[in-house]
Amino acid sequence: MNKIVVLFAITMAIASIMFTSTAQDMSPEEQAAAAVAQRKALFQTIRYNIGPIGAMAQGAPFDAEVAERNARRIAVMATMIPEMLAVDTSNFDNIETTALDSIWNNQGDIAELAQALITNANSFADAAATGDMGATLGAFRALGGSCGNCHDTYRVDND
Ligand code: HEC
Repeated sequence: MNKIVVLFAITMAIASIMFTSTAQDMSPEEQAAAAVAQRKALFQTIRYNIGPIGAMAQGAPFDAEVAERNARRIAVMATMIPEMLAVDTSNFDNIETTALDSIWNNQGDIAELAQALITNANSFADAAATGDMGATLGAFRALGGSCGNCHDTYRVDND
């Protein structure tokens, strides 16, 4: 095989992997499972980023750059929360989720709670950008509180 043929074969292989998982080919249950996996992945990645910030709030060495960077990441990721919480996955019993069904009829509230997180993550990042440890850590309560505000209402109380 010449290089072009090999390249074409690889491209087709990648395309077939990508397109076998499009929504059209999936059953409603598979779509719901994919939506749950997707939103959990988003929240896990948000947690990954808030972890070092939370550690600093509890006395780990203060690193303003990491604090700002991670908070900005959270602000961007939070813009995806309303989309990730738009798919009603309540019809399938064997899907593991801690999302409460009240989410599906309260999309406006979800959007507001996500926006509050964006605002508080950016305020935290702005404080971190000044390098002022006290001001930055002082902004942590509002940032962390934005997670709890949504979890308290829309997530099974399991932690
Ligand atoms: C607007 C609502 C909302 C906000 C804001 C929010 N979450 Fe969540 N979070 C949820 C819901 C709903 C679930 C349940 C997802 C599921 O189980 O399907 C969840 C689940 C999680 C999970 C568990 C994911 C898993 O694998 O089961 C983690 C970790 C998490 N959130 C972290 C955070 C952190 C950290 C923040 C703040 C920086 C945050 N969340 C902000 C609604 C929110």
